[in-house]
Amino acid sequence: MNKIVQDCALIIKDRCQEKDIKVKLKLAKFLPEIEADEAKIKQAMMSIIDNALDAMEGKRGGILTFATGREKNGVFLSITDTGTGIPEKRISKVLEPFYSTKNNGSGLGLSVAKSIMEQHSGELEIKSQVGKGTTVKLKFPRFFCWAQNYLLVEDL
Ligand SMILES: Nc1ncnc2c1ncn2[C@@H]1O[C@H](COP(=O)(O)OP(=O)(O)O)[C@@H](O)[C@H]1O
Ligand SMILES: [Mg+2]
Repeated sequence: MNKIVQDCALIIKDRCQEKDIKVKLKLAKFLPEIEADEAKIKQAMMSIIDNALDAMEGKRGGILTFATGREKNGVFLSITDTGTGIPEKRISKVLEPFYSTKNNGSGLGLSVAKSIMEQHSGELEIKSQVGKGTTVKLKFPRFFCWAQNYLLVEDL
């Protein structure tokens, strides 16, 4: 999972530098590996990153933070921007297909990302504050995690 984040961060590094956006990584050590379709997770992440960059457009000194970690029911990966934010009442709307506030937006980014997470028995959670920014968290359940520390745990 850390590798997926690092790959995505590398892809967008130059674009962020041009826009004067700092990229931060907060990656947890000793994460269990997840069994996931890497290409699809990256696709979901790239849509979320595109949105984050759109939200910070025209604002100098934006920060894009990637984090990974453990949670009681599995592992998560989050993308946080310091952009415009999403009003509370619009948060469920933005997950709907074809909902967009952009002139040339398809409105599909988040709905596709959400369905990719559902295919992984996971969840997509959005937390946002208008004027402060947005965090999109991709949560993977324990079922989709391999324990890295042990090859096999069994009572014989
Ligand atoms: N990080 C974000 N910050 C602010 N608004 C966001 C963010 N991500 C998504 N949105 C809002 O959600 C809408 C839907 O996003 P998305 O499904 O990716 O479609 P699109 O980017 O084509 O508009 C966007 O038009 C925007 O209003
Ligand atoms: Mg989008």
